[in-house]
Amino acid sequence: MCDSRVSTMGPRRPLLIVLFLTVFFAIFFVARYGTHDGGHIKKVEEKIEVLIHLGPEKPKDPASPCSEHLGWLEPYQFSYPIKYVARDIIVVPSTTGQRPSLTFIGEPLFDEFTTVDMTQSSTVNIKQCLPPLYLEVPQNNPGPADASNMIFSLQTTTNRLKSTVKHLARWLPHTGARLYVIVIETEELPADDEAISKLEKEFHAQGMNVTIVHPVQPLDTFPQRYFSLVSLMYEARNEKTQWITLIDDDTFFPSMHDLQKEFSRYDPRKPHYLGSLSEDWWAVNHYGLMAFGGASVFLSLPLAQTIHEHNDECKEHPRTTAGDVTVMDCIYRFSSTKLTHLPGLHQIDIHGDLSGFYESGREMLSLHHWKEGLEHLEMHKLHLVSDICDSCFLQRWQFPHETVLTNGFSLSQYPQGHISGQKPGILNTGMGGKDIEKINLEEMEKTWGDDINVLHSLAPTREKLEDGAKVQYKLLDSMMVNSDPEGQGKGDVVRQVYWREGEEEEGGGREMGTVMVLNWKKGERPPPPEG
Ligand SMILES: *[C@@H]1O[C@H](CO)[C@@H](O)[C@H](O)[C@H]1NC(C)=O
Repeated sequence: MCDSRVSTMGPRRPLLIVLFLTVFFAIFFVARYGTHDGGHIKKVEEKIEVLIHLGPEKPKDPASPCSEHLGWLEPYQFSYPIKYVARDIIVVPSTTGQRPSLTFIGEPLFDEFTTVDMTQSSTVNIKQCLPPLYLEVPQNNPGPADASNMIFSLQTTTNRLKSTVKHLARWLPHTGARLYVIVIETEELPADDEAISKLEKEFHAQGMNVTIVHPVQPLDTFPQRYFSLVSLMYEARNEKTQWITLIDDDTFFPSMHDLQKEFSRYDPRKPHYLGSLSEDWWAVNHYGLMAFGGASVFLSLPLAQTIHEHNDECKEHPRTTAGDVTVMDCIYRFSSTKLTHLPGLHQIDIHGDLSGFYESGREMLSLHHWKEGLEHLEMHKLHLVSDICDSCFLQRWQFPHETVLTNGFSLSQYPQGHISGQKPGILNTGMGGKDIEKINLEEMEKTWGDDINVLHSLAPTREKLEDGAKVQYKLLDSMMVNSDPEGQGKGDVVRQVYWREGEEEEGGGREMGTVMVLNWKKGERPPPPEG
Protein backbone atom coordinates (compact mmCIF):
# COMPACT_ATOMS: atom_id res chain seq x y z
CA MET A 1 0.00 0.00 0.00
CA CYS A 2 2.62 2.50 1.02
CA ASP A 3 5.50 1.94 -1.33
CA SER A 4 3.43 0.35 -4.07
CA ARG A 5 2.46 3.92 -4.76
CA VAL A 6 5.94 4.61 -6.04
CA SER A 7 5.73 1.99 -8.74
CA THR A 8 2.05 1.98 -9.72
CA MET A 9 0.93 4.82 -11.91
CA GLY A 10 -2.84 4.56 -11.59
CA PRO A 11 -5.14 6.17 -14.14
CA ARG A 12 -5.75 9.01 -11.72
CA ARG A 13 -2.07 9.87 -11.57
CA PRO A 14 -2.03 12.44 -14.43
CA LEU A 15 -4.93 14.26 -12.80
CA LEU A 16 -3.03 14.37 -9.56
CA ILE A 17 0.01 15.79 -11.28
CA VAL A 18 -2.07 18.51 -12.95
CA LEU A 19 -3.62 19.38 -9.63
CA PHE A 20 -0.26 19.37 -7.97
CA LEU A 21 1.26 21.64 -10.61
CA THR A 22 -1.66 24.04 -10.34
CA VAL A 23 -1.24 24.34 -6.63
CA PHE A 24 2.49 24.54 -7.00
CA PHE A 25 2.23 27.53 -9.31
CA ALA A 26 -0.34 29.10 -7.05
CA ILE A 27 2.20 28.82 -4.25
CA PHE A 28 4.92 30.07 -6.50
CA PHE A 29 2.83 33.07 -7.32
CA VAL A 30 2.00 33.78 -3.72
CA ALA A 31 5.55 33.29 -2.62
CA ARG A 32 6.99 35.37 -5.38
CA TYR A 33 4.55 38.23 -5.60
CA GLY A 34 3.14 37.37 -2.21
CA THR A 35 0.47 39.05 -0.27
CA HIS A 36 2.11 38.02 2.96
CA ASP A 37 -1.28 36.78 3.94
CA GLY A 38 -0.10 34.08 6.32
CA GLY A 39 -3.51 32.44 6.61
CA HIS A 40 -3.91 32.07 2.89
CA ILE A 41 -0.46 30.65 2.44
CA LYS A 42 -1.12 28.14 5.18
CA LYS A 43 -4.30 26.99 3.43
CA VAL A 44 -2.50 26.41 0.16
CA GLU A 45 0.18 24.56 2.05
CA GLU A 46 -2.41 22.32 3.65
CA LYS A 47 -3.93 21.59 0.27
CA ILE A 48 -0.58 20.39 -0.99
CA GLU A 49 -0.17 18.17 2.05
CA VAL A 50 -3.58 16.63 1.40
CA LEU A 51 -2.73 15.99 -2.23
CA ILE A 52 0.56 14.41 -1.41
CA HIS A 53 -0.81 12.20 1.31
CA LEU A 54 -3.96 11.04 -0.42
CA GLY A 55 -2.17 8.98 -2.99
CA PRO A 56 -3.66 8.03 -6.32
CA GLU A 57 -5.03 4.61 -5.44
CA LYS A 58 -7.59 5.14 -2.77
CA PRO A 59 -8.24 7.56 0.01
CA LYS A 60 -6.62 6.53 3.24
CA ASP A 61 -8.74 5.57 6.21
CA PRO A 62 -9.15 8.89 7.88
CA ALA A 63 -7.14 9.37 11.02
CA SER A 64 -9.47 9.48 13.96
CA PRO A 65 -9.20 10.32 17.62
CA CYS A 66 -8.41 7.45 19.94
CA SER A 67 -7.25 6.82 23.44
CA GLU A 68 -4.45 4.64 24.69
CA HIS A 69 -3.70 3.16 28.05
CA LEU A 70 -0.02 3.72 28.82
CA GLY A 71 0.34 2.00 32.17
CA TRP A 72 3.11 -0.10 30.66
CA LEU A 73 5.33 3.02 30.51
CA GLU A 74 5.53 3.14 34.30
CA PRO A 75 8.65 0.96 34.82
CA TYR A 76 10.76 3.37 32.77
CA GLN A 77 10.31 6.12 35.37
CA PHE A 78 10.60 8.97 32.89
CA SER A 79 10.38 12.45 34.31
CA TYR A 80 7.01 13.64 33.11
CA PRO A 81 5.61 15.21 31.07
CA ILE A 82 6.99 13.59 27.92
CA LYS A 83 6.15 13.85 24.25
CA TYR A 84 4.54 10.67 22.93
CA VAL A 85 3.71 9.27 19.53
CA ALA A 86 2.95 5.74 18.29
CA ARG A 87 2.18 3.84 15.10
CA ASP A 88 1.11 0.32 14.25
CA ILE A 89 3.05 -1.30 11.45
CA ILE A 90 1.85 -4.30 9.48
CA VAL A 91 4.60 -6.08 7.60
CA VAL A 92 3.84 -7.83 4.34
CA PRO A 93 6.27 -9.99 2.36
CA SER A 94 7.68 -8.21 -0.67
CA THR A 95 7.08 -9.83 -4.04
CA THR A 96 10.82 -9.93 -4.77
CA GLY A 97 11.99 -11.29 -1.41
CA GLN A 98 14.77 -8.69 -1.58
CA ARG A 99 15.92 -6.54 1.31
CA PRO A 100 16.64 -3.07 -0.05
CA SER A 101 19.14 -0.95 1.85
CA LEU A 102 16.63 1.91 1.91
CA THR A 103 12.96 2.18 0.94
CA PHE A 104 11.14 5.48 0.36
CA ILE A 105 7.71 5.86 1.87
CA GLY A 106 5.50 8.71 0.71
CA GLU A 107 3.55 9.28 3.89
CA PRO A 108 4.79 10.48 7.27
CA LEU A 109 5.46 7.87 9.94
CA PHE A 110 3.87 9.89 12.72
CA ASP A 111 1.30 12.58 13.31
CA GLU A 112 1.71 15.19 16.01
CA PHE A 113 3.10 14.48 19.45
CA THR A 114 0.76 14.12 22.39
CA THR A 115 1.92 15.32 25.79
CA VAL A 116 1.76 12.56 28.37
CA ASP A 117 1.94 13.00 32.11
CA MET A 118 1.61 9.66 33.82
CA THR A 119 1.54 11.33 37.22
CA GLN A 120 -1.84 12.76 36.19
CA SER A 121 -3.37 9.98 34.11
CA SER A 122 -2.19 6.82 32.40
CA THR A 123 -4.83 7.14 29.68
CA VAL A 124 -4.03 9.55 26.89
CA ASN A 125 -6.43 10.96 24.35
CA ILE A 126 -4.84 11.31 20.96
CA LYS A 127 -6.30 13.75 18.46
CA GLN A 128 -5.29 11.89 15.34
CA CYS A 129 -4.47 8.19 15.38
CA LEU A 130 -3.09 7.27 12.02
CA PRO A 131 -4.20 3.97 10.47
CA PRO A 132 -1.64 1.13 10.41
CA LEU A 133 1.25 1.56 8.05
CA TYR A 134 2.02 -1.30 5.67
CA LEU A 135 5.73 -1.96 5.09
CA GLU A 136 7.27 -4.51 2.77
CA VAL A 137 9.86 -6.86 4.21
CA PRO A 138 11.77 -9.76 2.60
CA GLN A 139 9.67 -12.34 4.47
CA ASN A 140 7.26 -12.05 7.34
CA ASN A 141 6.71 -15.64 8.43
CA PRO A 142 9.83 -17.70 8.10
CA GLY A 143 10.01 -19.75 11.34
CA PRO A 144 13.40 -21.11 12.40
CA ALA A 145 15.88 -21.85 9.60
CA ASP A 146 17.24 -25.36 9.08
CA ALA A 147 20.90 -25.12 10.08
CA SER A 148 21.49 -28.80 10.82
CA ASN A 149 24.40 -28.57 8.33
CA MET A 150 26.33 -26.42 10.83
CA ILE A 151 28.13 -27.07 14.09
CA PHE A 152 29.17 -24.00 16.09
CA SER A 153 31.66 -23.81 18.92
CA LEU A 154 33.18 -21.32 21.29
CA GLN A 155 35.26 -21.20 24.44
CA THR A 156 34.61 -18.97 27.42
CA THR A 157 34.20 -18.89 31.19
CA THR A 158 31.15 -20.28 33.01
CA ASN A 159 30.08 -16.81 34.04
CA ARG A 160 30.33 -15.31 30.59
CA LEU A 161 28.41 -18.27 29.16
CA LYS A 162 25.58 -17.73 31.65
CA SER A 163 25.13 -14.15 30.52
CA THR A 164 25.17 -15.29 26.88
CA VAL A 165 22.16 -17.62 27.08
CA LYS A 166 19.66 -14.90 26.21
CA HIS A 167 21.69 -13.82 23.19
CA LEU A 168 22.22 -17.33 21.84
CA ALA A 169 18.47 -17.79 22.36
CA ARG A 170 17.91 -15.21 19.61
CA TRP A 171 19.44 -17.27 16.81
CA LEU A 172 20.21 -20.85 17.84
CA PRO A 173 16.95 -22.51 19.03
CA HIS A 174 15.11 -25.04 16.89
CA THR A 175 17.52 -24.68 13.97
CA GLY A 176 19.02 -28.17 14.18
CA ALA A 177 22.43 -26.54 14.63
CA ARG A 178 24.59 -27.78 17.48
CA LEU A 179 26.86 -25.70 19.68
CA TYR A 180 29.92 -27.00 21.56
CA VAL A 181 31.33 -24.89 24.36
CA ILE A 182 34.62 -25.33 26.18
CA VAL A 183 34.38 -23.66 29.58
CA ILE A 184 36.75 -22.86 32.41
CA GLU A 185 36.01 -21.07 35.66
CA THR A 186 39.19 -18.97 35.44
CA GLU A 187 42.58 -19.57 33.84
CA GLU A 188 43.54 -21.34 37.10
CA LEU A 189 40.26 -23.09 37.96
CA PRO A 190 38.29 -25.69 36.00
CA ALA A 191 34.54 -25.17 35.66
CA ASP A 192 32.25 -26.79 38.19
CA ASP A 193 30.55 -29.94 36.85
CA GLU A 194 27.25 -29.22 38.53
CA ALA A 195 27.17 -25.71 37.11
CA ILE A 196 27.91 -27.16 33.67
CA SER A 197 25.04 -29.63 33.72
CA LYS A 198 22.65 -27.00 35.08
CA LEU A 199 23.58 -24.64 32.25
CA GLU A 200 23.20 -27.40 29.67
CA LYS A 201 19.69 -28.08 30.92
CA GLU A 202 18.87 -24.40 30.64
CA PHE A 203 19.95 -24.40 26.99
CA HIS A 204 18.04 -27.59 26.20
CA ALA A 205 14.88 -26.20 27.82
CA GLN A 206 15.08 -23.32 25.35
CA GLY A 207 15.45 -25.55 22.31
CA MET A 208 19.21 -25.09 21.96
CA ASN A 209 21.36 -28.14 21.30
CA VAL A 210 24.37 -27.16 23.42
CA THR A 211 27.12 -29.44 24.77
CA ILE A 212 29.43 -27.97 27.41
CA VAL A 213 32.82 -29.56 28.04
CA HIS A 214 36.09 -28.99 29.87
CA PRO A 215 39.25 -28.13 27.89
CA VAL A 216 40.52 -31.04 25.79
CA GLN A 217 43.84 -30.83 27.67
CA PRO A 218 43.64 -29.35 31.18
CA LEU A 219 46.73 -27.20 30.60
CA ASP A 220 45.66 -25.81 27.23
CA THR A 221 46.33 -22.10 26.87
CA PHE A 222 43.75 -19.68 25.45
CA PRO A 223 44.73 -20.09 21.77
CA GLN A 224 45.12 -23.84 22.25
CA ARG A 225 41.62 -24.18 23.66
CA TYR A 226 40.30 -22.21 20.71
CA PHE A 227 42.21 -24.29 18.22
CA SER A 228 41.06 -27.56 19.79
CA LEU A 229 37.45 -26.64 18.94
CA VAL A 230 38.13 -27.60 15.31
CA SER A 231 38.89 -31.23 16.16
CA LEU A 232 36.12 -31.30 18.73
CA MET A 233 33.57 -30.33 16.09
CA TYR A 234 35.12 -32.51 13.41
CA GLU A 235 34.78 -35.55 15.65
CA ALA A 236 31.18 -34.62 16.48
CA ARG A 237 30.19 -34.40 12.79
CA ASN A 238 27.31 -36.46 11.44
CA GLU A 239 25.91 -37.16 7.97
CA LYS A 240 24.30 -33.69 7.83
CA THR A 241 27.36 -31.69 8.84
CA GLN A 242 28.82 -29.48 6.10
CA TRP A 243 30.29 -26.51 7.98
CA ILE A 244 32.05 -26.18 11.30
CA THR A 245 32.14 -22.71 12.77
CA LEU A 246 34.30 -21.05 15.40
CA ILE A 247 32.68 -18.11 17.13
CA ASP A 248 33.30 -15.85 20.13
CA ASP A 249 30.87 -15.68 23.03
CA ASP A 250 29.66 -12.32 21.71
CA THR A 251 29.25 -13.33 18.07
CA PHE A 252 25.66 -12.81 16.94
CA PHE A 253 23.89 -14.03 13.79
CA PRO A 254 20.95 -11.73 12.99
CA SER A 255 19.36 -14.07 10.43
CA MET A 256 20.06 -17.79 10.16
CA HIS A 257 17.98 -17.74 6.96
CA ASP A 258 20.34 -15.21 5.38
CA LEU A 259 23.36 -17.11 6.66
CA GLN A 260 22.10 -20.34 5.10
CA LYS A 261 21.32 -18.53 1.87
CA GLU A 262 24.88 -17.17 1.74
CA PHE A 263 26.39 -20.60 2.38
CA SER A 264 24.29 -22.30 -0.28
CA ARG A 265 26.62 -20.53 -2.74
CA TYR A 266 29.64 -22.59 -1.67
CA ASP A 267 30.23 -26.29 -2.29
CA PRO A 268 30.81 -27.82 1.15
CA ARG A 269 32.50 -30.87 -0.40
CA LYS A 270 35.44 -28.64 -1.39
CA PRO A 271 37.91 -27.12 1.09
CA HIS A 272 36.67 -23.65 2.10
CA TYR A 273 37.93 -21.11 4.61
CA LEU A 274 35.28 -18.40 4.92
CA GLY A 275 35.24 -15.36 7.15
CA SER A 276 35.76 -11.65 7.36
CA LEU A 277 38.68 -9.30 7.77
CA SER A 278 38.91 -6.79 10.58
CA GLU A 279 37.62 -3.32 9.65
CA ASP A 280 40.94 -2.00 10.91
CA TRP A 281 43.52 -2.23 8.14
CA TRP A 282 46.29 -2.16 10.72
CA ALA A 283 45.00 -5.44 12.21
CA VAL A 284 44.81 -7.10 8.79
CA ASN A 285 48.32 -5.94 7.99
CA HIS A 286 49.58 -7.07 11.37
CA TYR A 287 47.90 -10.49 11.70
CA GLY A 288 47.32 -11.52 8.12
CA LEU A 289 44.62 -12.28 5.60
CA MET A 290 42.55 -14.32 8.00
CA ALA A 291 39.01 -14.90 9.17
CA PHE A 292 38.87 -12.76 12.31
CA GLY A 293 37.38 -14.82 15.11
CA GLY A 294 34.66 -12.48 16.35
CA ALA A 295 33.09 -12.27 12.91
CA SER A 296 33.15 -16.13 12.97
CA VAL A 297 35.33 -18.63 11.10
CA PHE A 298 33.67 -21.14 8.77
CA LEU A 299 35.47 -24.28 7.61
CA SER A 300 34.02 -26.81 5.22
CA LEU A 301 34.37 -30.39 6.37
CA PRO A 302 37.30 -31.30 4.03
CA LEU A 303 39.35 -28.38 5.36
CA ALA A 304 38.38 -29.20 8.94
CA GLN A 305 39.69 -32.71 8.29
CA THR A 306 43.06 -31.34 7.15
CA ILE A 307 43.36 -29.32 10.34
CA HIS A 308 42.22 -32.26 12.43
CA GLU A 309 44.93 -34.43 10.90
CA HIS A 310 47.58 -31.84 11.75
CA ASN A 311 46.10 -30.96 15.11
CA ASP A 312 49.16 -31.78 17.19
CA GLU A 313 51.71 -29.97 15.01
CA CYS A 314 49.53 -26.86 14.72
CA LYS A 315 48.62 -26.73 18.38
CA GLU A 316 52.14 -27.08 19.71
CA HIS A 317 53.70 -23.63 19.51
CA PRO A 318 51.07 -21.01 18.74
CA ARG A 319 52.73 -17.92 17.24
CA THR A 320 50.41 -15.50 19.06
CA THR A 321 47.86 -15.51 21.87
CA ALA A 322 45.03 -15.27 19.33
CA GLY A 323 43.33 -18.55 18.46
CA ASP A 324 42.07 -17.37 15.08
CA VAL A 325 45.69 -16.76 14.05
CA THR A 326 46.55 -20.36 15.02
CA VAL A 327 43.75 -21.60 12.75
CA MET A 328 44.99 -19.46 9.85
CA ASP A 329 48.60 -20.55 10.39
CA CYS A 330 47.56 -24.20 10.29
CA ILE A 331 45.50 -23.76 7.12
CA TYR A 332 48.30 -21.88 5.32
CA ARG A 333 50.85 -24.46 6.45
CA PHE A 334 48.99 -27.61 5.44
CA SER A 335 46.63 -26.65 2.61
CA SER A 336 46.56 -24.33 -0.36
CA THR A 337 43.10 -23.04 0.61
CA LYS A 338 42.90 -19.25 0.97
CA LEU A 339 40.47 -17.05 2.77
CA THR A 340 37.19 -16.28 1.03
CA HIS A 341 36.12 -12.89 2.33
CA LEU A 342 32.44 -12.55 3.26
CA PRO A 343 32.01 -8.83 3.94
CA GLY A 344 28.59 -9.45 5.53
CA LEU A 345 30.31 -11.03 8.55
CA HIS A 346 31.49 -8.33 10.96
CA GLN A 347 34.34 -8.37 13.46
CA ILE A 348 33.58 -4.75 14.50
CA ASP A 349 37.00 -3.52 15.57
CA ILE A 350 35.69 0.04 15.69
CA HIS A 351 34.86 1.74 18.97
CA GLY A 352 32.70 4.46 20.48
CA ASP A 353 29.49 5.56 18.79
CA LEU A 354 28.78 2.88 16.17
CA SER A 355 25.47 4.32 14.99
CA GLY A 356 26.92 5.02 11.55
CA PHE A 357 27.66 1.32 11.22
CA TYR A 358 24.27 0.12 12.47
CA GLU A 359 22.38 2.76 10.46
CA SER A 360 24.14 1.81 7.21
CA GLY A 361 21.47 -0.52 5.83
CA ARG A 362 24.21 -3.00 4.87
CA GLU A 363 24.00 -6.76 5.08
CA MET A 364 24.73 -7.98 8.62
CA LEU A 365 25.41 -11.72 8.55
CA SER A 366 27.21 -11.54 11.88
CA LEU A 367 27.81 -8.92 14.56
CA HIS A 368 30.41 -8.78 17.33
CA HIS A 369 31.76 -6.51 20.08
CA TRP A 370 28.32 -5.02 20.76
CA LYS A 371 28.53 -5.90 24.46
CA GLU A 372 31.42 -3.66 25.33
CA GLY A 373 32.03 -0.13 26.38
CA LEU A 374 29.78 2.76 27.28
CA GLU A 375 27.82 2.41 24.07
CA HIS A 376 27.07 -1.29 24.55
CA LEU A 377 23.89 -2.58 22.96
CA GLU A 378 21.20 -4.87 24.32
CA MET A 379 21.21 -7.02 21.24
CA HIS A 380 18.36 -9.30 22.31
CA LYS A 381 16.10 -6.23 22.51
CA LEU A 382 17.29 -4.66 19.26
CA HIS A 383 16.83 -7.97 17.49
CA LEU A 384 13.39 -8.89 18.86
CA VAL A 385 11.57 -7.48 15.85
CA SER A 386 13.08 -10.24 13.74
CA ASP A 387 10.44 -12.52 15.31
CA ILE A 388 7.95 -10.62 13.14
CA CYS A 389 9.95 -10.21 9.96
CA ASP A 390 13.40 -11.89 10.22
CA SER A 391 15.93 -9.84 8.24
CA CYS A 392 13.83 -6.66 8.54
CA PHE A 393 16.15 -6.09 11.53
CA LEU A 394 18.26 -2.99 10.75
CA GLN A 395 16.35 -2.53 7.47
CA ARG A 396 15.84 1.17 6.65
CA TRP A 397 12.82 3.20 5.59
CA GLN A 398 12.92 6.89 4.68
CA PHE A 399 9.88 9.03 5.44
CA PRO A 400 8.96 12.65 4.75
CA HIS A 401 10.34 15.30 7.11
CA GLU A 402 13.88 13.90 6.71
CA THR A 403 13.14 10.88 8.87
CA VAL A 404 14.88 7.52 8.63
CA LEU A 405 13.92 4.42 10.57
CA THR A 406 16.67 1.84 11.10
CA ASN A 407 14.57 -0.98 12.42
CA GLY A 408 15.52 -1.94 15.98
CA PHE A 409 18.27 0.65 16.27
CA SER A 410 17.06 4.21 15.79
CA LEU A 411 14.73 6.77 14.33
CA SER A 412 16.80 9.64 13.01
CA GLN A 413 15.79 13.06 11.86
CA TYR A 414 18.25 14.74 9.53
CA PRO A 415 18.59 18.49 9.03
CA GLN A 416 16.10 20.04 6.62
CA GLY A 417 16.70 19.02 3.05
CA HIS A 418 19.73 16.86 3.79
CA ILE A 419 18.24 13.57 2.69
CA SER A 420 15.16 14.64 0.75
CA GLY A 421 17.27 17.05 -1.25
CA GLN A 422 14.44 19.54 -0.87
CA LYS A 423 15.81 23.02 -0.39
CA PRO A 424 13.97 24.70 2.47
CA GLY A 425 13.39 28.31 1.39
CA ILE A 426 9.93 29.81 1.39
CA LEU A 427 7.22 27.21 2.03
CA ASN A 428 9.66 24.48 1.20
CA THR A 429 9.57 25.52 -2.43
CA GLY A 430 13.31 25.92 -2.37
CA MET A 431 13.01 29.54 -3.38
CA GLY A 432 15.40 31.72 -1.46
CA GLY A 433 16.76 28.66 0.29
CA LYS A 434 20.47 28.02 0.33
CA ASP A 435 21.95 25.10 -1.48
CA ILE A 436 22.34 21.92 0.52
CA GLU A 437 24.71 19.10 -0.03
CA LYS A 438 22.49 16.05 0.02
CA ILE A 439 23.67 13.18 2.23
CA ASN A 440 24.23 9.89 0.46
CA LEU A 441 22.67 7.31 2.77
CA GLU A 442 24.48 4.50 0.95
CA GLU A 443 27.70 5.80 2.51
CA MET A 444 28.46 4.78 6.09
CA GLU A 445 28.71 7.69 8.52
CA LYS A 446 32.01 7.59 10.42
CA THR A 447 30.50 8.13 13.86
CA TRP A 448 33.13 6.05 15.64
CA GLY A 449 36.03 7.53 17.52
CA ASP A 450 39.03 5.72 16.06
CA ASP A 451 41.11 7.30 13.36
CA ILE A 452 41.72 4.06 11.50
CA ASN A 453 41.80 2.97 7.89
CA VAL A 454 38.58 1.07 7.20
CA LEU A 455 38.07 1.56 3.48
CA HIS A 456 38.94 -2.04 2.49
CA SER A 457 36.02 -3.08 4.68
CA LEU A 458 33.45 -0.32 5.13
CA ALA A 459 33.73 1.86 2.01
CA PRO A 460 32.00 3.96 0.92
CA THR A 461 32.06 6.09 4.06
CA ARG A 462 31.21 9.71 4.77
CA GLU A 463 32.23 12.22 7.43
CA LYS A 464 30.38 12.31 10.73
CA LEU A 465 27.64 14.95 10.87
CA GLU A 466 28.17 17.86 13.23
CA ASP A 467 27.10 17.17 16.80
CA GLY A 468 23.38 17.69 17.16
CA ALA A 469 22.72 17.93 13.42
CA LYS A 470 21.06 14.53 13.32
CA VAL A 471 18.41 14.06 15.99
CA GLN A 472 18.42 10.44 17.08
CA TYR A 473 15.76 8.51 18.95
CA LYS A 474 17.42 5.26 20.02
CA LEU A 475 15.83 1.96 20.89
CA LEU A 476 15.29 1.83 24.62
CA ASP A 477 13.35 -1.40 24.90
CA SER A 478 11.25 -3.90 23.03
CA MET A 479 8.81 -6.57 24.11
CA MET A 480 6.22 -9.03 22.87
CA VAL A 481 2.66 -7.98 23.54
CA ASN A 482 -0.75 -9.24 22.54
CA SER A 483 -2.83 -7.29 20.04
CA ASP A 484 -5.86 -8.89 21.68
CA PRO A 485 -6.07 -7.78 25.32
CA GLU A 486 -7.58 -11.18 26.16
CA GLY A 487 -4.86 -12.93 24.16
CA GLN A 488 -2.93 -15.85 25.58
CA GLY A 489 0.67 -16.88 25.01
CA LYS A 490 3.72 -14.82 24.23
CA GLY A 491 1.95 -12.38 21.96
CA ASP A 492 1.85 -11.45 18.29
CA VAL A 493 3.13 -7.88 18.34
CA VAL A 494 6.65 -6.59 18.89
CA ARG A 495 6.48 -3.24 20.60
CA GLN A 496 9.55 -1.07 20.20
CA VAL A 497 10.18 1.95 22.39
CA TYR A 498 12.49 4.60 20.95
CA TRP A 499 13.59 7.29 23.37
CA ARG A 500 15.36 10.63 23.37
CA GLU A 501 16.17 12.61 26.46
CA GLY A 502 15.16 16.28 26.35
CA GLU A 503 17.94 18.80 25.72
CA GLU A 504 19.28 20.67 28.71
CA GLU A 505 17.81 24.13 28.91
CA GLU A 506 19.73 27.29 29.58
CA GLY A 507 19.49 28.12 33.25
CA GLY A 508 18.87 24.53 34.34
CA GLY A 509 16.17 21.98 33.70
CA ARG A 510 15.46 19.91 30.64
CA GLU A 511 13.11 19.98 27.72
CA MET A 512 10.57 17.19 27.55
CA GLY A 513 11.87 13.76 26.64
CA THR A 514 10.33 11.93 23.69
CA VAL A 515 8.94 8.41 23.38
CA MET A 516 8.19 6.98 19.96
CA VAL A 517 6.50 3.60 19.85
CA LEU A 518 6.25 1.22 16.92
CA ASN A 519 4.04 -1.86 17.13
CA TRP A 520 5.06 -4.50 14.57
CA LYS A 521 2.70 -7.21 13.42
CA LYS A 522 2.63 -9.76 10.63
CA GLY A 523 -0.06 -9.24 8.05
CA GLU A 524 -1.30 -9.67 4.53
CA ARG A 525 -1.33 -7.18 1.74
CA PRO A 526 -4.54 -5.15 1.98
CA PRO A 527 -7.09 -6.07 -0.72
CA PRO A 528 -7.09 -3.82 -3.79
CA PRO A 529 -9.58 -0.96 -3.57
CA GLU A 530 -12.98 -1.67 -5.08
CA GLY A 531 -14.10 -0.16 -8.38
C1 LIG B 1 21.38 -32.62 19.57
O1 LIG B 1 21.62 -33.01 18.23
C2 LIG B 1 22.02 -34.35 18.09
C3 LIG B 1 22.40 -34.58 16.64
O2 LIG B 1 21.41 -34.11 15.77
C4 LIG B 1 20.91 -35.28 18.59
O3 LIG B 1 21.30 -36.62 18.47
C5 LIG B 1 20.59 -34.93 20.03
O4 LIG B 1 19.49 -35.68 20.47
C6 LIG B 1 20.27 -33.45 20.18
N1 LIG B 1 20.14 -33.13 21.59
C7 LIG B 1 19.21 -32.31 22.07
C8 LIG B 1 19.21 -32.10 23.54
O5 LIG B 1 18.37 -31.77 21.38
